[in-house]
Amino acid sequence: MLKTSVDPKQEKCFVKKKRKDLISLKDLNVNEILGILERGDYWSDHLNSRFSIIPRTVDNPIVSNLFFESSTRTRFSFEVAAKKLGFHVLNFEPQNSSVQKGETLYDTLRTLESMGTNAAIIRTSEENILQEVAPLLELAVINAGAGANEHPTQGLLDILTMRQHFGKLNGLKVAIIGDIKHSRVANSNIIALGKFDAKVFLSGPENLLPSDDSELIGPHTQIVPVDYAVQEADVVMMLRLQRERHALSNVADNYFRDYGLSRERFNLMQSHAMIMHPAPFNRGVEIDGDLVEHPRSLIYKQVSNGVAVRMAVLERAL
Ligand code: CP
Repeated sequence: MLKTSVDPKQEKCFVKKKRKDLISLKDLNVNEILGILERGDYWSDHLNSRFSIIPRTVDNPIVSNLFFESSTRTRFSFEVAAKKLGFHVLNFEPQNSSVQKGETLYDTLRTLESMGTNAAIIRTSEENILQEVAPLLELAVINAGAGANEHPTQGLLDILTMRQHFGKLNGLKVAIIGDIKHSRVANSNIIALGKFDAKVFLSGPENLLPSDDSELIGPHTQIVPVDYAVQEADVVMMLRLQRERHALSNVADNYFRDYGLSRERFNLMQSHAMIMHPAPFNRGVEIDGDLVEHPRSLIYKQVSNGVAVRMAVLERAL
């Protein structure tokens, strides 16, 4: 449906842009991440206050949401974040757009930019298209999840949630369990946590783990058995099976017993350790349904922090 590549015959030069893209957490240094987390803390403290609503005027920025894959949290938290900042929001619907007539992503974005859009928030199944188009555009390109590659704002909201709860990131032990190979969330968390010298335990079915030569496997990551990961960790982050990205026939049987966060496995966790999940979750598949809203679950705190972090990311972008 989406023509993903930039036309190779296109001779447009890279633009000198004032706005700041967010495509990969690899592109941010520790100080830049800390700046976003501090601003995220600020918005997190003010989210329920009416003072967080900045009046919208005709001159305020315009952001466009372009979601070529389904989403609930990311799409609506970006919209809430933008509205709380007083921005105007355009919700692009690929199925009702000229993408259906063959328009490329670049030409779609260039069109929105010509109408005054200042930032494009894009979710796509393509892994590298955003890196291709962003340098050609003046609007800020924000990655809202790109295939199995990265989901930088999810990584940021996850580490914001960890830092708020534990008061630090350095030295934290985080277990990421499940379908890591297809998880852009795992990738962004591994990149972010590595910048803060946190330790990451990876666990899951062998065919859903990153390969040994993956750039994600480094000094701060370790592939370990699931029960070891659960026992050692300060944070147990469960992942959904990415059913849309691979056939499940060889992993679905006994998945909950072998890798899910059951009550029994939860009892192995240290008393201070907390449950996280980027969601959407499948109760009874990778996590016991009753644990989702357990007092030691941060899952809905992650969701509300999604608004705070995305406010910080939009401020930085514009
Ligand atoms: N965590 C996350 O990206 O959720 P959505 O797919 O609902 O946006």
